[in-house]
Amino acid sequence: MKTIKTQPSLLSKIQNDFIGLDTVYTLADGSKTPRVYLDSTASTLMMGKAYDLVEKFLDHYANSHSLLHFSAKISTTQYQWAHDRVLSFLGADPEIYTCFFTGSGTTAGINRLARVFRDYQPDKDVVLVSVMEHHSNDLPHRKHSGKVIHVKLDNHESGQPGCLSLTDLELNLKKYHGRVNYVAITGISNVTGIINPIHDIAELAHKYDTNILIDGAQTAAHMPVKMSGHSNSDRNIDAFVFSGHKTYVPGAPGVVVCRKDILLAIEPEEVGGGMVENVFIDHYEIKNYFPDREEAGTPNIPGAIALATAIEIMDRIGMDVIYKEEEELVNTAMLRMLENPDVIIYGETDVCKCTRAGSISFNIKDMHHGLTAAILNDYFNIAVRNECFCAHPYVKELILDDMLEAVSDLTDEEIESNYKLLAGMVRASFGLYNKMNNVESLINALNEISKRKKEFSNKYHVDKTGNYVHNTFKMEDENSFSITDILDKTLII
Ligand SMILES: Cc1ncc(COP(=O)(O)O)c(C=O)c1O
Repeated sequence: MKTIKTQPSLLSKIQNDFIGLDTVYTLADGSKTPRVYLDSTASTLMMGKAYDLVEKFLDHYANSHSLLHFSAKISTTQYQWAHDRVLSFLGADPEIYTCFFTGSGTTAGINRLARVFRDYQPDKDVVLVSVMEHHSNDLPHRKHSGKVIHVKLDNHESGQPGCLSLTDLELNLKKYHGRVNYVAITGISNVTGIINPIHDIAELAHKYDTNILIDGAQTAAHMPVKMSGHSNSDRNIDAFVFSGHKTYVPGAPGVVVCRKDILLAIEPEEVGGGMVENVFIDHYEIKNYFPDREEAGTPNIPGAIALATAIEIMDRIGMDVIYKEEEELVNTAMLRMLENPDVIIYGETDVCKCTRAGSISFNIKDMHHGLTAAILNDYFNIAVRNECFCAHPYVKELILDDMLEAVSDLTDEEIESNYKLLAGMVRASFGLYNKMNNVESLINALNEISKRKKEFSNKYHVDKTGNYVHNTFKMEDENSFSITDILDKTLII
């Protein structure tokens, strides 16, 4: 793959070219403003250039399993390029690793790898994960791989946890030595944005003859990754999974990069067309080359090509440039939020002890997370996520002290049954397109909400499903979007 010359000056051009940056909604006070999108940890907006190029590619679209016509040749080469592009993006040596695309995001990739690792070393029945994992990097291992142990996090004087504890990891690696099949850890938390030292973790895992799988759902878009080529090869990563829809391409598939020798040692988890050399009535012969061997069925070709385009563009800007730019944004947002004594930020906030990327989760004191998120949307046009972000054990750990204080008069059963309603946070998350003016909007909104808590609270009620709903303002009246309405208006014969 040809080496890319980085052009940091591309950043500002690309930053302004995302689809949906100028989407306007009408707010509860009747004003119309552009949306401030602070929900990139859930899904990012679409990079304009990747969208344009995939649209151009569609002129040539064909099935990559067809062989001889012009379009099939173009599709096949571009689809192959997408794989090579991912390997290069993640610094994974193509001699050692392969890349394949999977169904629905990171979740599909991790489920797949959990089964792969189980079959690769069936006599090893323990998987080590951390307490900060998204459910998608916890439940697949519980279901497919055996006994899951949750490694603790570092505790800081602030009372808030930081990264994975290397001490507790090593204790568990020793305790279960000979039984640990692999360590599965997130590169960056989707709740706090805290960055784990993945290469130190890999080194420890390998020291105890264990493989390492990185959940890269939040990592790929935010920081440079180098899976292989470390002078100490124990620091290499065995497998890495991420999601196209969190890497600026909604509609892109999930991505798995894994050591080929692991995949070659077992029969692929998924079988069907495309991955077999020959099929007879009583047996079949599987291809021994990649990615075909791991990609049964017709893949999401446009999605993969759009994703490869987006990451090529990010590589052209330089992932270290992107990381620095976003680090400044997140750190500034966090410092400004901390100036408001009414805002509680979860996870260690001292950036000298713990670095962050992408996300900040918080609450406004004495205000339900659902109410804060609803007000941010309805009055400030700021899109954030709330609740537990598919990381229940982690959120519970982060929030436990505040929660117990708030419910000191409830019984244990009442706390347990109300847990879903009581526990939760608001998450502001950032992408390539967010700038300091978005941070400013968030800070101003939070300051305003904490000043006018009562006034805002009186405008809402809780509906039967437990959601905060405005007493008079209805989204459907003001901001509707319906494909069928558009079809009704435009498809007139
Ligand atoms: C850290 C982490 N892992 C896994 C996932 C699951 O990703 P997907 O929804 O693309 O399957 C997410 C999604 O938010 C995540 O943040």
